[in-house]
Amino acid sequence: MRKGTVAVRGYRNVDPYGSLHPPIYQTAVFRMEGEAAKSDRGFDLKYSREENPTLRPLEEVVARLEGGLDALAFNSGMAALSAVFFSFLNADVAVATTMEAYGATLRLLGSLDKFGVRLRKGFPDTDVFVELIKEARPRMVFLETITNPTLRVLDVPAVVKAAKDFGAVVVVDNTFATPVLSAPLSYGADVVVHSATKYLAGHNDVVGGVAVVARREHLEDLWLWRAMLGGIMQPFEAFLTLRGVKTLFVRFERQCRSAMAVAEFLAEHGKVSEVIYPGLPTHPNHGTARKLFGDKFGAVVSFRLRGGRDAAVKFFKSLRIITPGPSLGGVESIATYPVASAASPIPEEDRKALGITEDLVRLSVGLEDPEDLIEDLDRALNSSFL
Ligand SMILES: Cc1ncc(COP(=O)(O)O)c(C=O)c1O
Repeated sequence: MRKGTVAVRGYRNVDPYGSLHPPIYQTAVFRMEGEAAKSDRGFDLKYSREENPTLRPLEEVVARLEGGLDALAFNSGMAALSAVFFSFLNADVAVATTMEAYGATLRLLGSLDKFGVRLRKGFPDTDVFVELIKEARPRMVFLETITNPTLRVLDVPAVVKAAKDFGAVVVVDNTFATPVLSAPLSYGADVVVHSATKYLAGHNDVVGGVAVVARREHLEDLWLWRAMLGGIMQPFEAFLTLRGVKTLFVRFERQCRSAMAVAEFLAEHGKVSEVIYPGLPTHPNHGTARKLFGDKFGAVVSFRLRGGRDAAVKFFKSLRIITPGPSLGGVESIATYPVASAASPIPEEDRKALGITEDLVRLSVGLEDPEDLIEDLDRALNSSFL
């Protein structure tokens, strides 16, 4: 099966009644006469904080899309990331990350210093980050396939190679790229994490996360951490997320096309001083993006408004179709102000170095007609300078 088919059909459904879409097991408890029953992958099936069969088709299909051994579904992207970090890190080890990443992830990694984990942050540039890895010799390397919000694209195979030269574990957040563009496990990464809240579920109505692993020992360890931290995905969210994954390819391909059209429109707009989109030849990592992703470049476009904060506030207020707010990846387009949301936990001096400034807007392009999005942007951009 090709990936587009795996997204729709790449799981086993063991429902005895032959339901086409797998059922929801809305239960906390499973019958246990002496020994617990086992799930299809051999874990105890007795209590839904540990294992619930509703999650299995979702875990199976995402694992196959990412080319992994298996996956675990969590009740948010952050729950997935925290369980992964707890499973790999201990006192007196270092963790290397790019200084640009989702703000809550950076805050979490930084907070682990109270357990003796040393955080090293490098500029999101392949050569600089590889140098940092060589020098810091971390236990774990963390990076995002496309960074948030200035959309840099590191050469993931080169980063994995540098990390593997001395045995570091590599964790990649593939939320922005999705398995449609990128499968980091195929380059040798150990774990791929998604905020399923975004493209996997895809409808701005679910909070969820998934971690995909390549090795059985990582699966067993992470399964225990999921149960101990209590971050398992709930059955209804798993049902909705599987439903979302079935349309991932058609949604994401259309969203990427619309994002390219929007980026090209913004690049010509007089009120916009810079457009940041890996699909534009002006993007500094366009070559890397082309090499890794082919002819699609994601559905998030960032851009700078001439006029800074005042213009940005007017711009957000003037949007009529696009929703101003946090998050991304759903069918509805959302315009985000990174300095006030996702990037606010990034220290001020890092934000300056990265260009996360008050003129920056991040746009998640949804499934509306791109012409309507372009008209909405044009109107809001022109009103923001009145
Ligand atoms: C790249 C990335 N990773 C992880 C997360 C965290 O996911 P969640 O909000 O589902 O906990 C987000 C959320 O915005 C994100 O953008």
